[in-house]
Amino acid sequence: MTMESFIITGKQRLEGTIRVSGAKNSSLPLMAATLLAEGTSVLWETPDLADILHMRQVLENLGCVIHLGQDRQMSIDAASLRDFEVDERLMRTMRASNLILGPLLARCGRVRIAMPGGCAIGSRPMDQHLKGLKELGVRIRETHGYIEAAAERLRGADIYLDVPSVGATENIMMAAVLAEGTTRIHNAAREPEIVDLQNFLNKMGAKVRGAGLDVVKIEGTKRLTPAEHTVIPDRIEAGTHLVAAVMTQGDIQLENVIPEHLEPVIAKLRQAGALIEVEDDRMRVRHEGPVQPVDIKTMPYPGFPTDMQPQFMAMLACAGGTSIITETIFENRFQHVDELRRMGANIRAEGRTAVIRGTDKLEGSFVETTDLRAGAALFLAALAAEDVTVLEKVTHIDRGYENLLEKYQALGAKVKRMTPHHP
Ligand code: UD1
Repeated sequence: MTMESFIITGKQRLEGTIRVSGAKNSSLPLMAATLLAEGTSVLWETPDLADILHMRQVLENLGCVIHLGQDRQMSIDAASLRDFEVDERLMRTMRASNLILGPLLARCGRVRIAMPGGCAIGSRPMDQHLKGLKELGVRIRETHGYIEAAAERLRGADIYLDVPSVGATENIMMAAVLAEGTTRIHNAAREPEIVDLQNFLNKMGAKVRGAGLDVVKIEGTKRLTPAEHTVIPDRIEAGTHLVAAVMTQGDIQLENVIPEHLEPVIAKLRQAGALIEVEDDRMRVRHEGPVQPVDIKTMPYPGFPTDMQPQFMAMLACAGGTSIITETIFENRFQHVDELRRMGANIRAEGRTAVIRGTDKLEGSFVETTDLRAGAALFLAALAAEDVTVLEKVTHIDRGYENLLEKYQALGAKVKRMTPHHP
């Protein structure tokens, strides 16, 4: 990992327009889903991000031929799959590469992958993915950090998830579309990215209903055909910009958003005092004066997203009062707390709860990102802080925010990237 940094001079009011990129968390399962059909599928608005490049390498490793065109167009030719096994290094570096499990089983009947590692924010097991696939008739062997799975044929089943896991719901959907008979995923995740996957699968000829609700019903079909699809806008990127406007007393317009996907975030921002106007696929957010404290509890969609929790903590660190944040999804997602404290924030975290006493004295400092959204939180804190912040290890941020610095420079932020010189 290179040690690139952002140098951020805070206290600049942000004003202007940002066009939100396509959703990373939709693009990843959609790219995996293209494995299901022989031929070339086309995805529009896939963001230019490290995680997307990574998934591209995984698919190429399996034999797909991928081309990038204009307007973030990605065409994926999955006709000549030659492998059911992915390079171990590729598997271990990104957890979402596990999303090839379902489609590869459906297409080839076999797959062998390295068990994706834990990550900074929690242990992130795969038991729900594997349980669901077993119910569809897959034999699974877990040995020395590998998952080997095989099935001569997949049979539809009723699957009850213990937790509404996004990845497990997606993996099971992608396996079940080519199974014999009907599958019902109960207690399914309801995130907008699940609906986007359903829409793409149905364009390929699948019969999926109920995405966005508790039960997703999939009637298996014999064959799928390649399709074209535009990825939904990234709701977490959009949410991050909304918080940025509030924290800099700014006035930001967002283009290419689906406001309904941001309802829990908008509700909390309004409670914090933000003025938000919503119109079709655009939004405007403004803020003046002190931020009101609000309490947050992360929940599966349509609850408040865990992927926005760190950014809200940065905002509430500057509020005029005390807020409480409870993280219920990941057990170790307070890594930004120590770094925010280095910048002068008054936060006490214990277990899954953090108590944030707002201050108007955030100060620039040397801070380090530990994961993607923690990095976003520190970026936001730096925009609101006095003086200069050096934000280190920003490759974590590059995983999830396309052209972040360019977008913020256009709003008037004083931000630049520093790449260390190697003699
Ligand atoms: C996805 C998102 C991620 C987001 C998360 C929760 C992608 C690529 N990533 O991750 O940004 O933070 O949803 O909204 O879409 N769990 C189990 N067993 C399993 C699977 C999950 O116990 O088999 C638990 C996890 O430990 C976690 C919770 O379920 O506590 C949610 O995880 P999950 O919804 O699976 O997250 P991801 O799909 O990995």
